[in-house]
Amino acid sequence: MTTLLRVDSSALSQGSHSKELADYFLSKWQSQHHDADIQTVDLAATPPPHMDQAMIGAMYTMPNERDEAQKSALTLSEQYVAQIRAADTLVLTSPMYNFAIPSTLKAYLDHILRVGETFQYGENGPEGLLKGKKAYVFIASGGDYTQPPMDALNFVKPYLKTALNFIGIEDITFIEAPGMGMGDDAVAQSIEAAKARIDSLL
Ligand SMILES: Cc1cc2nc3c(=O)[nH]c(=O)nc-3n(C[C@H](O)[C@H](O)[C@H](O)COP(=O)(O)O)c2cc1C
Repeated sequence: MTTLLRVDSSALSQGSHSKELADYFLSKWQSQHHDADIQTVDLAATPPPHMDQAMIGAMYTMPNERDEAQKSALTLSEQYVAQIRAADTLVLTSPMYNFAIPSTLKAYLDHILRVGETFQYGENGPEGLLKGKKAYVFIASGGDYTQPPMDALNFVKPYLKTALNFIGIEDITFIEAPGMGMGDDAVAQSIEAAKARIDSLL
């Protein structure tokens, strides 16, 4: 059985374009993977806490030296790490908020990118430990940041690529829906193009 982890970060419970694309992708993907175990994390419904002194202290204490309070501070992070480690496929959805990813998704990644758990330092520098996974990332933005010179303002795609690569996830397919704030025709064209791209992938 294969396991897919879906992580959503749009603040919208209805009308999210990034989630619409992931829904479309998943309806097709599931028809090819009938027995898949699908896990979902909705970061808007259940926002992860920001890093604090207790969490950081616990993360940088060796696992066998952590006291009960430190173990407790890492409970959610441990759950998130176990969940992404168990996944064969990752589906990540992200709106662009102020040129970057939503703060909830950044907080989630702060819980996931952990030395000794998802990356380690070796002789050649940092090494990702989550090897062999495939990731699909769905990004929706109001404007179009896919071409120069506007692409220089897009901190969503390069950041997610860097963060996922850092923990060893290198097989990443980005599906972008630009122009969600550029009128009904632009929205329809962009969503249609993104769905056609999904069709060609599956
Ligand atoms: C708080 C906020 C900030 C936004 N910042 C940007 C931005 O910097 N650039 C942009 O092109 N669109 C921006 N948008 C528009 C969203 O990227 C766009 O509505 C997108 O469709 C949101 O994804 P979703 O439909 O999955 O929620 C912003 C929207 C919100 C709510």
